[in-house]
Amino acid sequence: MYRILRKEILNPQVKLLEIEAPYVARKAEPGQFIILRVHDEGERIPLTIADYDREKGSVTIIFQEVGATTRLLGSLEAGDAIADFCGPLGVASHFEGVKKAAVIGGGLGTAIAYPQAKKLFGLGVEVDVIIGFRNKDLIILEQEMAKVSNRLFVTTDDGSNGTRGFVSDILKQRIEEGAQYDVVIAIGPPIMMKVVCDVTRPYGIKTIVSLNPVMIDGTGMCGGCRVTVGGETKFACVDGPDFDGHLVDFDELIRRLSIYREDERISLERHAC
Ligand code: FES
Repeated sequence: MYRILRKEILNPQVKLLEIEAPYVARKAEPGQFIILRVHDEGERIPLTIADYDREKGSVTIIFQEVGATTRLLGSLEAGDAIADFCGPLGVASHFEGVKKAAVIGGGLGTAIAYPQAKKLFGLGVEVDVIIGFRNKDLIILEQEMAKVSNRLFVTTDDGSNGTRGFVSDILKQRIEEGAQYDVVIAIGPPIMMKVVCDVTRPYGIKTIVSLNPVMIDGTGMCGGCRVTVGGETKFACVDGPDFDGHLVDFDELIRRLSIYREDERISLERHAC
């Protein structure tokens, strides 16, 4: 069993759990994920590692309550335990040769972008962080991001906090102002990552995205997480989840992500009863 050391409610839909998992913490790197089960008969859900503390032996996950399992997970408190916590899985992000980077988080994607910004900033890279949310009530990790960036930009769709508009607007503005990024890292809803890639493509700026397809085993066996990158089929769980955004077929990813929406709705209704 894996004990919950700390719980935080980041906004009405998003929760943070710090889990005691020393073997995972020992090897975890930005870009990797874990698969957990809340109880022995629960479904497996993949969650990207939001932070880790090797000395304390803990791994932090941040998740949105979108389905029955994440709702159950969100009902747990510090002191409770979960059955399985498997990882780290996936390929760690690599930052060799990067001197200036823009790290972009859209909504919950900010939780996944945080360890990337933290690692880059710790390596002495000049980091611009751009995070965007629908409105001010959904903002997460603003203070944490401020600590791991040279410049922090916040956008909201409705202008209730920060700049009104989208993260891609700020990115475009920064590039046009002369910010010379070696790499842009964009993590969030597929449509946001697609738009960011459209912004950076004409400038030839390397753009890394973190893909979130449906995952089942997380070890390259089921094929559920297949994505098309550069015309080739890749498995996000073992080949990613980070990929060159300019090569990703986002339209296919968006189509595949919508396949199980009705099943998720039924499951949520069933477990809410
Ligand atoms: Fe099964 Fe990736 S989750 S192959």
